[in-house]
Amino acid sequence: MGKKVTVVGAGFYGSTTAQRLAEYDVFDTVVITDIVEGKPAGLALDLNQSRPVEGFETTIVGVTTGPNGEGYEAIEGSDVVVITAGLPRKPGMSRMDLLETNAKIVRQVAENVAKYAPNAVVIVVSNPLDEMTALAQLATQFPKNRVLGQAGMLDTARFTNFVAEALSVPVKSVRTLTLGSHGDTMVPVPSKSTVNGKPLRDVMPAEQIEELVVKTRNGGAEVVALLKTGSAYYAPSAAAARMAKAVAEDSGDVMPVCAWVDGEYGISGVYLGVEAEIGAQGVKRVVETDLDADEMAALKEAAEAVRAKQADISSL
Ligand SMILES: NC(=O)c1ccc[n+]([C@@H]2O[C@H](COP(=O)([O-])OP(=O)(O)OC[C@H]3O[C@@H](n4cnc5c(N)ncnc54)[C@H](O)[C@@H]3O)[C@@H](O)[C@H]2O)c1
Repeated sequence: MGKKVTVVGAGFYGSTTAQRLAEYDVFDTVVITDIVEGKPAGLALDLNQSRPVEGFETTIVGVTTGPNGEGYEAIEGSDVVVITAGLPRKPGMSRMDLLETNAKIVRQVAENVAKYAPNAVVIVVSNPLDEMTALAQLATQFPKNRVLGQAGMLDTARFTNFVAEALSVPVKSVRTLTLGSHGDTMVPVPSKSTVNGKPLRDVMPAEQIEELVVKTRNGGAEVVALLKTGSAYYAPSAAAARMAKAVAEDSGDVMPVCAWVDGEYGISGVYLGVEAEIGAQGVKRVVETDLDADEMAALKEAAEAVRAKQADISSL
């Protein structure tokens, strides 16, 4: 049977994700939903009309959903659901400022996903990411491997891009990694970063690496400050769409994602940014990598910070 993916939320993140997913041409159907009357249907019409030009056969369906789950029948049979519903940051806001508003939205969406697409893998992108991922698992009651969040692919892409720009080398020659939370306790991992296979630390002075680490940590805020009305979506949607594709193709690709950690790195019982093998059932396995002592300490610190915040979400 053909594959089906749903993107909940037809804002900037959702619409660009739907476009990327459709252009991959690996799904039969991309469903895009929103609570705004007409918007998802309009986007679907427009995207479908790009098919002859871009040369893909995927059909896009746009549906407006109601407060009591009206319209959610359209997501039935989805293999993957990407949740982008929720407010983005404005200049000066931290992701945590979105907690209460977005928790209500994500909970309502997740409950409907559980009802109408009980076998789907859920990829959460709404912020604050680590908390919304934990909340989506709680609200769906899906096995923890079937609920994951997108943050690490984006943060890693930003780090890689900054290194490539600083050294004027192709992005393809650079590998970086970020773990930890999608926020203040993000953990960029220079010890696992390379340029043309050489350790980053051999080709860039420590102060410059630190500058790029800080720039990566503030990567989202830098975009928000320039856009003024919302947050980034091109790089974020690229990351989420790749994750959804890995699920649809059962690829086993290893990606930095927000996943349930159960003993890896000596950390348990928390959704945290780690590398994981992604397949048809979501997270196949969390992949541990050797970390320097300071990186390990930072990851543990991130785990405790998000654990404290995730503990509060059941009341939201
Ligand atoms: N994880 C990441 O790396 C990352 C990166 C960028 C943005 N984000 C987050 O993604 C989210 C979306 O960002 P955006 O730029 O698309 O914002 P946006 O304002 O453009 O779009 C959000 C959409 O969600 C819709 N929505 C609200 N409640 C809904 C509901 N109950 N059901 C369905 N749709 C609903 C809104 O109508 C709106 O169209 C934000 O929370 C943002 O912070 C995450």
